[in-house]
Amino acid sequence: MKLLVILLFSGLILGCRGNSSYSLPPKLLLVSFDGFRADYLQNYEFPHLQNFIKEGVLVERVKNVFITKTFPNHYSIVTGLYEESHGIVANSMYDVITKRHFSDLNDKDPFWWNEAVPIWVTNQLQGNRSSAAAMWPGTDVPIHNTTPSYFMNYSSSVSFEERLNNITVWLSNSNPPVTFATLYWEEPDASGHRYGPEDKENMRRVLKGIDDLVGDLVYKLKTLGLWENLNVIITSDHGMTQCSQDRLINLDSCIRRSDYTVIDWTPVAAVLPKINRTEVYNTLKTCHPHLNVYLKEEIPARFHYQHNDRIPPLILVADEGWTIGRNKSSSKLGDHGYDNSLPSMHPFLAAHGPAFHKGYKHSTINIVDIYPMMCHILGLKPHPNNGTFGHTKCLLVDQWCINLPEAIGIVIGALLVLTMLTGLIIIMQKRYSVPHPFSRLQLQEDDDDPLIG
Ligand SMILES: *[C@@H]1O[C@H](CO)[C@@H](O)[C@H](O)[C@H]1NC(C)=O
Ligand SMILES: *[C@@H]1O[C@H](CO)[C@@H](O)[C@H](O)[C@H]1NC(C)=O
Ligand SMILES: *[C@@H]1O[C@H](CO)[C@@H](O)[C@H](O)[C@H]1NC(C)=O
Ligand SMILES: *[C@@H]1O[C@H](CO)[C@@H](O)[C@H](O)[C@H]1NC(C)=O
Ligand SMILES: *[C@@H]1O[C@H](CO)[C@@H](O)[C@H](O)[C@H]1NC(C)=O
Ligand SMILES: *[C@@H]1O[C@H](CO)[C@@H](O)[C@H](O)[C@H]1NC(C)=O
Ligand SMILES: *[C@@H]1O[C@H](CO)[C@@H](O)[C@H](O)[C@H]1NC(C)=O
Ligand SMILES: [Zn+2]
Repeated sequence: MKLLVILLFSGLILGCRGNSSYSLPPKLLLVSFDGFRADYLQNYEFPHLQNFIKEGVLVERVKNVFITKTFPNHYSIVTGLYEESHGIVANSMYDVITKRHFSDLNDKDPFWWNEAVPIWVTNQLQGNRSSAAAMWPGTDVPIHNTTPSYFMNYSSSVSFEERLNNITVWLSNSNPPVTFATLYWEEPDASGHRYGPEDKENMRRVLKGIDDLVGDLVYKLKTLGLWENLNVIITSDHGMTQCSQDRLINLDSCIRRSDYTVIDWTPVAAVLPKINRTEVYNTLKTCHPHLNVYLKEEIPARFHYQHNDRIPPLILVADEGWTIGRNKSSSKLGDHGYDNSLPSMHPFLAAHGPAFHKGYKHSTINIVDIYPMMCHILGLKPHPNNGTFGHTKCLLVDQWCINLPEAIGIVIGALLVLTMLTGLIIIMQKRYSVPHPFSRLQLQEDDDDPLIG
């Protein structure tokens, strides 16, 4: 029996490790298509992406973090932290203490990023490995004095093809090897803002373009011989919802411009009162039925958006599809940033490679769960984070995963077996251990008849 157990275990270990001394280190390419709303996958055709999913895994819906904007969510993907904990709490920020400004065009001061450690830094510090990046937010900033060994300064005018070409060169021949790489693309976000997600005709054309880029990516990885050993995650930061010129919340109709400053406008406005905060709050609270006004200490706990100096004393959150502005402001046709419980704000996740199952579909994970999963794949020790590794176990080949119905089945099965065993034991005890005068006689009777017992 002991021997059998030992054999089983050594077999398992061999099976997991394989020919470890010769096998390549695990590699991961993380791709983001900005603003890829989860249900685009159901409502439009993606032949290349569906092929990718067929041989890999799909998470239909990723619950992202509030506020549902680009920089904050991209940093949550690579740190596993809520925005209040990683410090990138908006695309535009102001630090009251140091009087510094941050915006998507002025993002290179490490001060803003240093509250967390992104995975590309950890990857380089925990082993003899390199990271490479093609435009992912923060990758051209020396965070904790470290940039990826290979990166590009951000420029929206660099084509997808050039980003892809250069990242695959780095993945192919670098020493120490590039084991973690990121690739970022601005679409379909830009077109989602321009047309609105309900413009089916334009979005169909734009999303076909995205699918072609996925095709190019897979083709490139295959021709370079990278495809079989590389783990590829394709995901996004947020979704998109339809807006309208008719759904504009005009702050000028409620409050004097001299009474406040706005750091970030819509759909979540970061407000710095210039007069008594309570007065500004009371004025704005009744401003518009589709405007939610929160004092910093009253921001709902489910947003995990409170405990950071960069979150202002007052925030305004517009209802889905509404735009916060001033007199004569115009709204985009599509926007995001709204409540992260809205399905329209959620992105998706697909993954392919040796670490992932083939043909597995999963309903949902949190965006902060991606980080511990990536650390697991790369063999890195994760920094403290808000993700749950268990949520992604079903996606991974080296994890034992049971879903709820299976778990219930197993528990019921175990209970049945236990009941039967208990019953048997009770019966046996009754037969053998209850002392009575004729026990010896009975035993003898049993001995006489070997067929009973
Ligand atoms: C491991 O694989 C390499 C080449 O794939 C082979 O030469 C070597 O003998 C293998 N080692 C073991 C212990 O199986
Ligand atoms: C990025 O820009 C900085 C400043 O312009 C420059 O010093 C640096 O060499 C650039 N890095 C890359 C990788 O292009
Ligand atoms: C991509 O690589 C080419 C060839 O090495 C180089 O000339 C080009 O500047 C790189 N592009 C970017 C955006 O770094
Ligand atoms: C890192 O690995 C490369 C080979 O991939 C080797 O040449 C180099 O000496 C290693 N450096 C350290 C510090 O182990
Ligand atoms: C908005 O602008 C128009 C035209 O300039 C002006 O007539 C109107 O009073 C303004 N409304 C508010 C609330 O400021
Ligand atoms: C702000 O206004 C409220 C009510 O209007 C008042 O109770 C409070 O004392 C004021 N706070 C300051 C600092 O002036
Ligand atoms: C998120 O994780 C950080 C780091 O461990 C921790 O400080 C913070 O309290 C966590 N937030 C929540 C809401 O659990
Ligand atoms: Zn956007």
